[in-house]
Amino acid sequence: MCAEDSRQSGFKPSLSLFDATAISVGAIIGAGIFIVTGIAAGFAGSALIISMFIAAVIALFTALSLAELTAWQPREGSIYEYTYQLISPFAGFLVGWMWILSNTFTGAAVSLGFAYYLTALFPILPANWIAAILCIAFTALNFFGVRQSALLNNILVAAKLLILAFFAIYGVWHINTANFASFAPFETGVFYGAFYIFFAYGGFARVAVIAEEIKDPKHNVPRAIILSLAISTIVYILVGIVAVGLVGAQQLAQSNSPLKDAISQTGTGAAVYIVSLGGLLATASVLLTSILGVSRMAYAMARRKDLPQALGALHKKYYTPYNSLWIIGVLMTLLVLFIDLTRVVAISTFALLFYYTLANVSALRMKTENRKYPRVVPAIGAATCLALLIFALFASLQSWIIGVASLLIGAVYYLGKQKFK
Ligand code: ALA
Repeated sequence: MCAEDSRQSGFKPSLSLFDATAISVGAIIGAGIFIVTGIAAGFAGSALIISMFIAAVIALFTALSLAELTAWQPREGSIYEYTYQLISPFAGFLVGWMWILSNTFTGAAVSLGFAYYLTALFPILPANWIAAILCIAFTALNFFGVRQSALLNNILVAAKLLILAFFAIYGVWHINTANFASFAPFETGVFYGAFYIFFAYGGFARVAVIAEEIKDPKHNVPRAIILSLAISTIVYILVGIVAVGLVGAQQLAQSNSPLKDAISQTGTGAAVYIVSLGGLLATASVLLTSILGVSRMAYAMARRKDLPQALGALHKKYYTPYNSLWIIGVLMTLLVLFIDLTRVVAISTFALLFYYTLANVSALRMKTENRKYPRVVPAIGAATCLALLIFALFASLQSWIIGVASLLIGAVYYLGKQKFK
């Protein structure tokens, strides 16, 4: 039985700190490191790791805010609930709305990532067709209620981490230091890179969503959030250094499967297969949890009448919110067929930064007696997320237009609903 079933059937919380950390690492490490590394390297050049570091610092402040919020009230629904209570129902709605947008685009991005790694090995069909098939197949899995059990998740996470460790340890012996020659950490490209690679840090809010299934959630959820972020950052930075060292930023930027192309520089065929397998595992596992996360959020919002009731309707046999699942599945399929990876990533990151900003503002509004960290922590979190969000205007104007348009559509829907209630 998987963790979420146990919660629904009223079993006592069963997940340990180890499981919770693995769930968080499982949701974080996916297409970001395996795919977006290439996009970010295109902007930051060999200073890619500086972009990774900037993104990690911004993520850390937000993670501390989230840890603070979950330690105060470990609640299902996570950021949506907190914003609802601590800022306003309208702000809560916008967070849920943008969460759905972000995770739908994340689902599309990881599907494309999977397809790029698969077609790099077996060019059977165009990559976006494979991604489309995958979106439908994984939506169907979610529809039938198939989820990763905590054990399967632990195995997948161990596999991802071992493969990335292999990449770094095996690759480091084949580094060409000349690839770091034009290291320019103070160029604006580094911030563009930070905006894109921030995608790789999305996912640490996922464990807060299932807080009620974790043993001693007041302590273990915040710890899991911080630990998973620390693990991911270390892995990202090591992999980033080795990837640039192997083939240089320019070649990474030209590749849709950058880690595979980087390791192929070693000339070892088996290494290429191992790293590709990592890309497939990482993207597929993030896809499964992204779809689950979006349908959970749509369900929670429909339950509160923030979204049409039909979106919260559960299937009689599988107990899954089938209407929201299939809408998300179709949307993701259209995205992978018609929008390219860079834009999909940019829009997902725009929405991610928006709701992280509000998560930080929520943490800022917590009462002093409930706080562990000083208010300066969420204040820096909000300011840095907002700064990166504003920077997105220059990094990807389209992500801004689509992101702001989505916000406006959400706002009009919400206010119209209030008016005609
Ligand atoms: N952080 C997640 C990933 O990189 C979304 O795939």
